[in-house]
Amino acid sequence: MIESINLRNFKSLGDVELKMGKFTCLIGMNGSGKSTVLQAIDFISQLMVGRVDEWLDARGWSVADLNCKLRKESNVTTGVKFKTSTGKTLTLGWGIQPKSVALHGRNHAA
Ligand SMILES: Nc1ncnc2c1ncn2[C@@H]1O[C@H](COP(=O)(O)OP(=O)(O)OP(=O)(O)O)[C@@H](O)[C@H]1O
Ligand SMILES: [Mg+2]
Repeated sequence: MIESINLRNFKSLGDVELKMGKFTCLIGMNGSGKSTVLQAIDFISQLMVGRVDEWLDARGWSVADLNCKLRKESNVTTGVKFKTSTGKTLTLGWGIQPKSVALHGRNHAA
């Protein structure tokens, strides 16, 4: 099960940790970032299956469009923490530069 998702510098999400439960509900005012959270989760799933180009093309975006315009840093970082059925923790992280997407898979199975 996914325990948490970290997002840094992804569009309006400057530095966010989403704690996931068995049921997670997104509530917020217009423009507060609900759709952006779903876009980020969708983006991470595309990173996992390697279809980032198609995902960006479908939206008419370049990698640079993913950067938060409110922050100086140009790289986007995301991380997903899983808990396996045996109770082990697995953390995967990605670093996305303005001109490329680099996969930095970190397996921290303990
Ligand atoms: N690259 C970016 N950097 C910073 N902010 C951005 C960036 N791209 C979009 N935004 C802003 O992110 C905000 C979040 O929008 P989002 O569509 O996720 O909100 P929402 O909660 O889904 O709103 P609604 O309820 O209207 O659907 C918007 O105000 C938008 O201007
Ligand atoms: Mg929305």
